[in-house]
Amino acid sequence: MLTTPDLAPAHAVSENTEAQSQSDSPANLPHGTGVGSIFCDHMWYFAVAGAKLKRGAMVGKTMLGKMVLVGRRNDGQVFAMEDICPHQAVPLSAGRFDGNEVECTFHGWRFNSEGSCTAIPSLVSGQCMKVCGIKTKTYPCREVQGNIWVYFGNQPDSPPDVPRAYDIEDLSRFEKTTTTLVLPNHIDYNAVALIDTAHVPFVHKSWWWRSSKNMREKLKHYVPDQTGWTIVKHKPSKHSMVYKAIGDMIEDEIGFRLPACRIERIMYGGRTMISGMTCLTPIDDKTTELNHTTYWIKTVPGIAPLVVPIVQYFVRTFLSQDKDMAEMQQKCLAHNPKLVMTIRDAGTPGRWYFELKKAWNEAARTGRPFVNPVKDSFLKWMS
Ligand code: FES
Ligand SMILES: [Fe+2]
Repeated sequence: MLTTPDLAPAHAVSENTEAQSQSDSPANLPHGTGVGSIFCDHMWYFAVAGAKLKRGAMVGKTMLGKMVLVGRRNDGQVFAMEDICPHQAVPLSAGRFDGNEVECTFHGWRFNSEGSCTAIPSLVSGQCMKVCGIKTKTYPCREVQGNIWVYFGNQPDSPPDVPRAYDIEDLSRFEKTTTTLVLPNHIDYNAVALIDTAHVPFVHKSWWWRSSKNMREKLKHYVPDQTGWTIVKHKPSKHSMVYKAIGDMIEDEIGFRLPACRIERIMYGGRTMISGMTCLTPIDDKTTELNHTTYWIKTVPGIAPLVVPIVQYFVRTFLSQDKDMAEMQQKCLAHNPKLVMTIRDAGTPGRWYFELKKAWNEAARTGRPFVNPVKDSFLKWMS
């Protein structure tokens, strides 16, 4: 359980000396996940898949514990604002949106996408009020690679780059679908699971994927990259029937970016055929939204409606297996157990996650440049 705002999940460690001797010293764990924040500050978070927000539509969400309205105007532009009417505090997303202005459901006050009030219907002639002086907070909002992101932090005029999936410079060359799940637990637990390779043979068992019986030693080259790392391009293991079937022309590259985005590209003959991005967004400090976007290269025109359900079936099967684990984990975390989270080398990316988050938040707080703490490393593990 997270008991203080800046404590990582690994705040409690086992007394088990055998486990400790095989792990990095628990004392070396970066306890602070941030300075004054339990999430990454000054950061973009995945809000909603662009295709799920048509022109003239809006959606109310809780992100990082805040009520946020995300909308798309009639001209296609996306925007985000606090989803609380500044009059008497009802969600603005419960009202109507005409593609230009949001109308509150309680007394009909209207707000434009810049958050300024444009009308107060109850005013009669002679009652002068500068309505545009009434504002609701807005958030920077961008649509990148077909997904909508919202910025949280106190430097909205100079936000960092939005995390990006590999090789999606020209979205028109790709089909795309996004699968959304809600996971229990603080984002830190889910982020560690996202980059944890040791669970794969035990959790992701499917007849069409792999079993836990044929584990082998893996050796992967990790290099620091942007706000995370990249596992250098490699041939995927032959554990999977899928990869076995596709053959030797396949190469895989996997990366991680803050706040908690796992990116992957699968190349065939040196060309990216599939690019994936799994993004975690805290709903609050006990719940996390996961959005996985799969992009695949357009081949036969008109085939996407047939392919999308197949892609969604595989993605949902995988993610449901992770969700089952997270739900079991939630029951145990309620008892505030002591944990050993730093087993070398399989647990090293989890440790890097906390180091990255701490370094990022310190840079955001102090204004100093972010220095990526990840070291160029070869990591080994069985899976
Ligand atoms: S509460 Fe929104 S208009 Fe009154
Ligand atoms: Fe998993």
